[in-house]
Amino acid sequence: MRVSGRKNAAVALIPAALLSDEEVVLENVPEIGDVATYLEILDGLGAEVASPGGGVVRISPRRLGSRPVPEHLAKQMRASYYLLGVLLGRFGEADVGLPGGCDIGSRPIDQHVKALAAMGATVEIKNGRVRARAERLRGARVYLDIVSVGATIHAILAASRAEGLTVIENAAKEPHVVDVANLVNAMGGHVVGAGTDVVKVQGTARMGRAEHVVIPDEIEAATLMMAAAATGGDVRVEGVVTKHLESVIAKLGEAGASVEADADWVRVVGPERPRAVQVKTLPYPGFPTDAQQPMTSLLARADGTSTVTETIHEARFRHVDELRRMGARIRVEGRTALIEGVAELTGAPVQASDLRAAAALVVAGLSAQGTTELAGVEYLDRGYERLEDKLARLGARIARVPATART
Ligand code: EPU
Repeated sequence: MRVSGRKNAAVALIPAALLSDEEVVLENVPEIGDVATYLEILDGLGAEVASPGGGVVRISPRRLGSRPVPEHLAKQMRASYYLLGVLLGRFGEADVGLPGGCDIGSRPIDQHVKALAAMGATVEIKNGRVRARAERLRGARVYLDIVSVGATIHAILAASRAEGLTVIENAAKEPHVVDVANLVNAMGGHVVGAGTDVVKVQGTARMGRAEHVVIPDEIEAATLMMAAAATGGDVRVEGVVTKHLESVIAKLGEAGASVEADADWVRVVGPERPRAVQVKTLPYPGFPTDAQQPMTSLLARADGTSTVTETIHEARFRHVDELRRMGARIRVEGRTALIEGVAELTGAPVQASDLRAAAALVVAGLSAQGTTELAGVEYLDRGYERLEDKLARLGARIARVPATART
């Protein structure tokens, strides 16, 4: 099964394209809800957007202006924060509704504001909006107090149209930070060090045409791999960068799955019953927080007691109550879920509370006895491209039913 382009790369590359004065063509863009929302925002800003299909998106910022970004669109996702730095860099002002995103604990934007302020912007958060101004952004030293993927990418975007050199310290090293840097460089920018904890950006006054292919979605890959491991299945996930999946491969191996891999594919054969393991989420190259919830579903059926510790997000355990409805024995203490594996999960009506909770409940439903009915599928659609079709092609019995047809 081939994975789609990475959601969290796409929602950064789309605003990054606005930094250019000419057309930018993105390929392998996933057809997901957050991308559709972003393209709607771009349209409102005056950019010309064409999506001829096949994952291609053409963005021409020729008629772009710094107009207020409506709150109802900005709050549908977290990644709307990137527009602040991009619009500031191009027009000296930005007015964006406060970003929203999954409800997984408090998600401040202080490090984003710190980066923009260091470059000379004044930023005001008032009445559900963020307004920023700067006559001219100037290169600066930006030390991030927290390793933040969003703030690292945001600082790169803002710095690339600033005057002079910006040095970002304690930067996040996720593969999509590198992907964004690659696009900025293809447009004529100067970013070095992306993928390490110090990123240097030399500002550029003009940026040009570029074509760029979005990196594969390692979280979608991880979700499919966990579904295989949880069901005793045999799945080959293709079109991945296997190096990006090392922590997931290691944990699935410890949990008893047999994993075979080459540079761009991974095959997972699930065990009859998984073994208990200890998991701790960490910034890349550690175990990704975005794969934590599906991993919990896998471990719900493991032989023995597992622990899953979430160190990135404050409250990313809302799937646990639903898993309990399916017979899982899980207790959350602070930031750790203690999972006493049960031999069998049983299908039940469950409700997704956020994107990866939805994915976790799909994985649990596939491995459970009987039928699971998942409500809140719109969360799944924000970040996965027709996951149910992909799973059905892999042999899962899964179908989308209209709300009225539900039992
Ligand atoms: N943080 C702050 N202040 C900031 C920024 C972040 O305190 O100004 C904290 C956060 O509250 C969190 C930690 O720093 O505790 C790390 O947050 P980060 O900034 O790295 O995350 P994010 O930008 O909010 C992105 C992804 C998330 C993913 C995280 C971590 C997007 C749109 N979202 O969020 O993706 O979990 O990085 O990798 O890129 C998902 O796809 O399901 C998802 C939630």
